[in-house]
Amino acid sequence: MIPLIRRARPHARWTGDGPRSSLEDDEEVDGHTYQHSRQSGSGIFRITVVIPTLVFLTVLVTGLMSMAESMSSSSYLTYSTVPGFFLQDEPDTDPNAFDYVASNFGLINRTYDTDEEFDPHGDKPQWERFENKMRSLARDSGKGVHYKVLFLGRHGEGYHNVAESFYGTEAWDCYWSLQDGNETSTWVDAHLTETGIAQAETAHHAWEKQIENKVPAPESYYVSPLNRCLATASITFSGLELPNIDPFQPTVKELLRETIGLHTCDRRSSKSAIAEEYPHYRFEPDFSDEDVLWDAKSRESDSARSARLRKLLDDIFTNDDNVFISLTAHSGAITSILEVIGHRKFQLATGAMIPVVVKAERISGEHPEEPVEPPTTAPKCEINPIGASTARGVAVSTKA
Ligand SMILES: *[C@@H]1O[C@H](CO)[C@@H](O)[C@H](O)[C@H]1NC(C)=O
Ligand SMILES: *[C@@H]1O[C@H](CO)[C@@H](O)[C@H](O)[C@H]1NC(C)=O
Repeated sequence: MIPLIRRARPHARWTGDGPRSSLEDDEEVDGHTYQHSRQSGSGIFRITVVIPTLVFLTVLVTGLMSMAESMSSSSYLTYSTVPGFFLQDEPDTDPNAFDYVASNFGLINRTYDTDEEFDPHGDKPQWERFENKMRSLARDSGKGVHYKVLFLGRHGEGYHNVAESFYGTEAWDCYWSLQDGNETSTWVDAHLTETGIAQAETAHHAWEKQIENKVPAPESYYVSPLNRCLATASITFSGLELPNIDPFQPTVKELLRETIGLHTCDRRSSKSAIAEEYPHYRFEPDFSDEDVLWDAKSRESDSARSARLRKLLDDIFTNDDNVFISLTAHSGAITSILEVIGHRKFQLATGAMIPVVVKAERISGEHPEEPVEPPTTAPKCEINPIGASTARGVAVSTKA
């Protein structure tokens, strides 16, 4: 085998019997070689080698070309909010006075251009016409354009929320947020308080009411891995008359978590502990058992958090074809999502929820560089944090 290959390979060169005289002879020699080869029958052999070689080269070149192409034709998603559907998008809606329960999640009473065909007699409820409008937007959007409705829910009150208002933000940030708790309260991977559980029950009843009003059911559910969100999502959605939630099986998404680092309330439990408490919950692929992102010494900057939530949206908009999507997350995470989709600032109370209509467009080229601030360390305490608790403890005890 080897000698045959060696004879066949240099077929453009001299492989004849006579001595090779000079460079000028090459052409001639080559001609001779060709004839010689044919005469000797090695031409057949040559074809059997040349064709696979050509095939190999073609595959190689095609591979290199598509690599080059994919490198040069990179693309990214750009997001925008589609206003006109919900009160929370309107500049004159006051976030502090807004009540998602009383206002049908903020759905604006109006007609859509798709009503005429869908609802010729004008007797379909607002949510049904909204769903039809959204599905037709999603269906008729051009190549590389996606529309989704994101139901953004914040967890109910957790023990860390209580502690922050008990000690004050200053003492909280410089000292107490770094502790697992105090003598009587624990806030590491903070759990819901009684109030937080009640807020999630309020969300449950709000959904119940909107289901009667024909709200479109979320087709996918994503949840932050922090306990307060796992619990809020469970209380909110379990037992509702919605498809695919018996049992309720949201997907736990690492990137949906709150600002990472320093604060122990934002350190998650292990995957196995989560799976033990919520056996029906699914985990996204590659979800690590231990929390490898949390760091006791530094805290993610707001811009880094927004870059992370943009990655989460990229993931969802690339891999999830559903239109109606529920996300149960945090104040900071939702602030970042709203920022990435160009929505006005809209601070949610604990346990509150707002839907937003999002358009994503795939743009070719590199995503424009956005400055990402480095992580920060805990501020130095300018006050005695222990004193802060005593001062307020007195205030609390006078109340009691
Ligand atoms: C929208 O319509 C519903 C049902 O007719 C009504 O209950 C609700 O009060 C209306 N909302 C607004 C803001 O007008
Ligand atoms: C611990 O913090 C909670 C608030 O999170 C407060 O109500 C409680 O009084 C504190 N316990 C002590 C012993 O200071």
